[in-house]
Amino acid sequence: MKVKVDPERCQGHTLCAMAAPEVFELSEIDGHATAVVDEVPAHLEEAVREAARSCPEQAIQIS
Ligand code: F3S
Repeated sequence: MKVKVDPERCQGHTLCAMAAPEVFELSEIDGHATAVVDEVPAHLEEAVREAARSCPEQAIQIS
């Protein structure tokens, strides 16, 4: 599983970082999230799916 945050959509709601803090990092400058892993470890896949579901902007793309 791969994951990306669409910077155009992200509005800094932070729910992704709460669901999967090992995967999503919030910028100290603008509060927007980035995925800090390219390939999601198997044990974090469900947390990443939960993060994608919880993002109000649908900014998290899983492939
Ligand atoms: Fe951004 Fe959505 Fe996370 S708006 S900070 S990707 S919950």
